[in-house]
Amino acid sequence: MGITFEGLGFYVPSDVLTNFDLERMVDTSDEWITTRTGIKERRIARTESLIDMAEKASRRALEDAKVEPDQIDAIVLATITPHLGFPASACLLQTRLGCKDAFAFDISAACSGFLYGLEVARGIISSGSAKRVLLVGVEKLSEMVNWQDRSTCVLFGDGAGAVVVSSEGEGEILSSLMRSDGETWEILYAERCGYINMKGRELFKLAVRSMEEVCQEVLSRAGLTVNDIDLVIPHQANIRILEALAEKLGIGMEKVYSNIHKYGNTSAASIPIAMAEAYQEGRLRRGNVVLMTAMGGGLTWGATLIKF
Ligand code: ACO
Repeated sequence: MGITFEGLGFYVPSDVLTNFDLERMVDTSDEWITTRTGIKERRIARTESLIDMAEKASRRALEDAKVEPDQIDAIVLATITPHLGFPASACLLQTRLGCKDAFAFDISAACSGFLYGLEVARGIISSGSAKRVLLVGVEKLSEMVNWQDRSTCVLFGDGAGAVVVSSEGEGEILSSLMRSDGETWEILYAERCGYINMKGRELFKLAVRSMEEVCQEVLSRAGLTVNDIDLVIPHQANIRILEALAEKLGIGMEKVYSNIHKYGNTSAASIPIAMAEAYQEGRLRRGNVVLMTAMGGGLTWGATLIKF
């Protein structure tokens, strides 16, 4: 189906927390974090709210798309760290942006939130209830991290990514597949207002296996092979997960976009941040065949193959 990414934008807070800063907070080392995860630093929203970050990323996406706020028909916002219990963060964003004609709501699918959101945006557009959707992935994970738990606090960061999608233009969703398995929820979860709990080793193996399966399936459904892919934009969870996935798929790491060294794991924000940054750098170009994949709490996972 025709879905064009008309504009992309991202925002990360200016406050940088390096591995060396973490060495002073918990029993860890830059060497351990770098070799086990690929992360060197992450951004922390000390002064910005979730809505501030979402607004900045969205304004950049609207500007890139050359679209006015009142041309947005729906706002879909993916997050596991909403600003309030209710209403939805998407509604708070709507009023900030002045998207007065939009309907707005949040979705919760953890690190897969952006890909699930794209699936929802596509549904809204194909049903005819909206022509143009603002899709945002935004997280303030620093508020959900136990800064005394070295097994999780080194992994996560804050940030926002946003895209404007519509049915006008040359872009396409070639195929997509979303999956969930609630049986495995205890591998990665947080209680209401609680900290992130994670069984890292189990998650690592499941992440590689599950993402490989859905990537192979979307390629097969589209009648394409890995040789047709110009760029892979995966959820930025751990560089070793990305390397293992690339090896299983038979794709060289030069085709896998990663900015995890700068931002860590930003959950639902990670793919739209990576997309927007890759686009700015000229790594993501119009007409490219791009494979996106993610896995996160739920467990949820999925893959989406697009012509950008
Ligand atoms: N610094 C130093 N040592 C540490 C740290 C740390 N920050 N954290 C754990 N360790 C120790 C452990 O205590 C353990 O010590 P022990 O052997 O004495 O018991 C040792 O390091 C090895 O721990 P493991 O958990 O086995 O290390 P592993 O190589 O699996 O790496 C990691 C841990 C990085 C969490 C990895 O399992 C991982 O990335 N898993 C996926 C997690 C993830 O990505 N979660 C995000 C959400 S889901 C998603 O996005 C896919």
